[in-house]
Amino acid sequence: MAERPVPTTSLWRDIHKGIRWGLALLVTDSGSIDPFDEQAREDFVATLALVVDVMDSHTRTEDAVTGPVVEHHLPELGAQVAAAHAALDPQLQALVEAAEALEGAADPRAAMFSLHLDLARFTSEYLAHVDVEERTVLPALEAAIGVDGVRELEQAFVAAVPPEEKLDGMILMLPAMNVEDRTEVLGAIRAGAPAEWFDQVWAVACEALEPDDVEVLAARLQLDAPAG
Ligand SMILES: [Fe+2]
Repeated sequence: MAERPVPTTSLWRDIHKGIRWGLALLVTDSGSIDPFDEQAREDFVATLALVVDVMDSHTRTEDAVTGPVVEHHLPELGAQVAAAHAALDPQLQALVEAAEALEGAADPRAAMFSLHLDLARFTSEYLAHVDVEERTVLPALEAAIGVDGVRELEQAFVAAVPPEEKLDGMILMLPAMNVEDRTEVLGAIRAGAPAEWFDQVWAVACEALEPDDVEVLAARLQLDAPAG
């Protein structure tokens, strides 16, 4: 098989794709599910909890791993990112509280619409933030510490995320990634990590992806077709 070039700026590529996908799903669902359907509301709140957990984990890792490096080499951008994190976090917690309050809402339809508007506004702000990170901060960081420096940072970033948080992230990331991204990421895990870890990630992939996509990915990774 021909070698595929590895993009130089993949530090936040997959996790940001996953968060964008999760937020888009929440905006769509909050606008379209039956507000009087208890099960649909519960499923929505569970999805929101997952997306929020992944975003919390991601921001914590940015603040711990990439934040200090950005602040050292690019102080203005570092301050901008830190300020955005500080502004977005309370909004995110308010969304969680609003979702939890759906259960006892006197008017579920009105409560759901209000949450839909809040989610849409939060999403627009968050998307603008990750756009700055990927299109402004990352190229500036590459210029400051070099592509190899960014790759080392990427490894430190991934290593800093606890296994359970990684698996939660994969639930959002894998459906949001294209087949090249999926093959690259899972291929690297298979080549470089213990087999038990790859098995856990593969189980998440089988849950998170459509069966057709699982089949394509299994073929690309030269795995045996998964049972069931
Ligand atoms: Fe961020």
